[in-house]
Amino acid sequence: MSCNTLSAWDRQHLIHPVTNFRAHENQGVRILESAKGSWLKDIHGKEVLDAFAGLWCVNVGYGQQSVADVAAEQMRRLPYATGYFSFGSEPAIELARRLVEVSPASLQHVYFSLGGSDAVDAAIRYITHYYNSTGQPSRKQFIALERGYHGSSSTGAGLTGLPVFHQNFDLPRPNQHHIPCPYAYRNPLGDDPAALIAESVSHLRAKVVELGVDKVAAFFCEPIIGSGGVLVPPVGWLKAMQDTCRDLGILFVVDEVITGFGRTGPLFACDAEGVEPDLMTLAKGLTAGYAPMGAVMMSTAVYAGIADGNANDSLVGHGQTYSAHPVSAAVGLEVLRLYHEGGLLEHGQSVAPCFEQHLQDMLDHPLVGDARQRGLLGALELVADKNTKARFDPSLKLHERLSSIAWENGIVFRTFGDNILGFAPALCFTEQEFDILFERLRVSLDSLLEQPEVFRAVA
Ligand SMILES: Cc1ncc(COP(=O)(O)O)c(C=O)c1O
Repeated sequence: MSCNTLSAWDRQHLIHPVTNFRAHENQGVRILESAKGSWLKDIHGKEVLDAFAGLWCVNVGYGQQSVADVAAEQMRRLPYATGYFSFGSEPAIELARRLVEVSPASLQHVYFSLGGSDAVDAAIRYITHYYNSTGQPSRKQFIALERGYHGSSSTGAGLTGLPVFHQNFDLPRPNQHHIPCPYAYRNPLGDDPAALIAESVSHLRAKVVELGVDKVAAFFCEPIIGSGGVLVPPVGWLKAMQDTCRDLGILFVVDEVITGFGRTGPLFACDAEGVEPDLMTLAKGLTAGYAPMGAVMMSTAVYAGIADGNANDSLVGHGQTYSAHPVSAAVGLEVLRLYHEGGLLEHGQSVAPCFEQHLQDMLDHPLVGDARQRGLLGALELVADKNTKARFDPSLKLHERLSSIAWENGIVFRTFGDNILGFAPALCFTEQEFDILFERLRVSLDSLLEQPEVFRAVA
């Protein structure tokens, strides 16, 4: 099929996620054709270095033969097995067992979803069910962070703290609330870790008191805010939020959809601080993007509350045709093997200091105001004025200009609307690839700065 035909069909028929429909029609699609390691090839044969692991998900890199092999074998043997009516499949049971083995000790039970959004939705539904079935029906209020992202399902998107996911969708719901997030670079308190942690704790306490201590169900957060601009809180923040939730008697839900599976160094960001959430949501690195799958893990207390409190033998009415899909589960098992026995977790940890050094080195560029990172999750924040941290006028559409230049220069990363550049390279990224990435990035930022409108906008 010719590229022109595909582009025309795309314009006519394919709705892309989180796009301006008309702008996408004007811009057209970039068709990707194949990939190997951290390199993508488009339909014209152009090769680009992917510093975003697809959508922060292809943590094992592209072209892992063993993953393709287990998927093909599972498809031949048993392509589908429902989890309904007490049926099951070997890979799904094994994956649940493996996840319980490698995740924080508090988490003993797993429900498999198709991705992150429905994992979050499942968590909300199970929490609601838990409180209703344990005689606490007044606990209906949910709290999350401003700029947090918890997917785009019809309920979960209300916990997301980004306006674009609310506008015209009648969200957030009246029982969904947000508190300020820890954003060190733009916090008037500066980057004093203790002050930032204390501030978040007091925001959470104040919100729970405002809503009523016996009315709040749960607090949801990402260990590092991802889609809201890679906001890295101080070490100790996650533990402090957990302790506050325990103290207030509300459930603590950690969304590790991005941070899970080696993204920040350990297998889970929770591990770095000995955090044991009541529920945890997963997706992305769970199957490294090779097949769709997400999960919500829960503690025995929550599980038992639902199991034993459920009235009159009635069913817990939550399910999906493709929950615990055997092909995705087989992929998940092989991907977990690659993280551990395959050495990818260790490799990711070994190249993280190189990534950090390159990010820090970018601070001398006239456009770069902040560099932040943990493990292989990082960001640069572009500003018009480094002293005042003033942002660029959104009408300049700096992020769109930069993503085009970067593509031309053979690199892909995430350019957020407020001119934060997000990086999430695969765990197989090499030091040589970091050299290439940052050399091309500097050239791209120089070209951006040479554009007269951009040059004029810089203080
Ligand atoms: C923290 C977090 N939660 C949930 C989601 C939603 O996951 P999905 O896009 O697989 O539905 C995402 C996606 O980026 C995410 O980053």
